[in-house]
Amino acid sequence: MQRNEELYKGKAKSVYTTDDADSLILLFRNDTSAFDGKRIEQLDRKGMVNNKFNAFIMEKLQAAGIPTHFVRLLSDQESVVKKLDMIPVECVVRNIAAGSIVRRLGVQEGLELTPPTFEFFLKNDELGDPMINDYHIQSFGWATADQVAKMKELTFKVNAVLKDLFLAGGMLLVDYKLEFGVFHGEVILGDEFSPDGCRLWDVETREKLDKDRFRQNLGNVIESYEMVGHRLGIHFD
Ligand code: ADP
Ligand code: TMP
Ligand code: ASP
Repeated sequence: MQRNEELYKGKAKSVYTTDDADSLILLFRNDTSAFDGKRIEQLDRKGMVNNKFNAFIMEKLQAAGIPTHFVRLLSDQESVVKKLDMIPVECVVRNIAAGSIVRRLGVQEGLELTPPTFEFFLKNDELGDPMINDYHIQSFGWATADQVAKMKELTFKVNAVLKDLFLAGGMLLVDYKLEFGVFHGEVILGDEFSPDGCRLWDVETREKLDKDRFRQNLGNVIESYEMVGHRLGIHFD
C-alpha cells in the first residue's frame, strides 16, 4: 500500500490517503510535543517506538473485543488504519491523580481514585483543550448521546484490559487519553495508544516512564518508552 496525498499533519503524526477510500496511512514522526504544541522537539527513534508500541496495544485491545482502527504495520514508522470520521473530543480515564487534575482540583499527586474518574476534553489546541461535559458534546453536535455512551463504555473497557497488562510488566496505568471516530456508523477507537498519551509509573519506585519525562525535563525519554515496551514483551528492532 502506498501513501497518496497528505490529508493532515498533526503535532506527532501525519495522515495520508491511500488508493483505498476506507484506509489511511499514519506516519509516526519523531516530533514530540507538549503543552498543546507550545514545545516541540525531535527525539531519535520516537516515531518507530510509538508506531510499534501502538500496534502491540491496538492488537491486544482488538483481541479483547474493543473495535479499533488498526489494520497492520506497514513499515517502522507507518501503520495502515481504517479511515474514521474523528469525533473531536478526548476521553480521559484516571486511576491515580496526576497532571491537570492535580492543578485543577488541588489534590495530591498519587491519590488513588476509586472509582477511576472520567473526563472529556475538547480537541482544540488554540483553546488549550478545555474540559467539557456530555451536554456540551451533544449541544454543539460533536457526537450523539449514543456515541457519548459508547465512548465512555469503550474507554472503561480499555482500562480493564490495560491496567492488568501494565501491572504484569510492573507498571501502574495512572491515566490515559483516547480518541474515537465513526466508521460506517460504528464508534471505534482511533489515533494511538503509546507513552505519549498516558501516564505510567513503576509500581515499586513510582518513577515516571511516560511523556512526563519530556514535559518535566527528566531525561531518557525514548529510553524509557523502550523499557516500557520491553517490559510488555515488545521488540523494536
Ligand atoms: P494532533 O492532531 O493532536 O496534533 P497527531 O499528530 O497525532 O495529533 O495527528 C494525528 C491526527 O490524525 C489526529 O488529529 C487524529 O485525530 C487523527 N486520526 C487518528 N486516527 C485517525 C483515523 N483512523 N482516521 C482519521 N483520522 C485519524
Ligand atoms: P492531563 O493530566 O494533562 O489532563 O492529561 C491526562 C492524560 O491524557 C495524560 O496521560 C496525557 C493525556 N492527554 C494527551 O495525551 N493529550 C491531550 O491533549 C490531553 C488533554 C491529555
Ligand atoms: N499532546 C498534547 C501536546 O502535544 C498535550 C501534552 O501531551 O502535553 O501538546
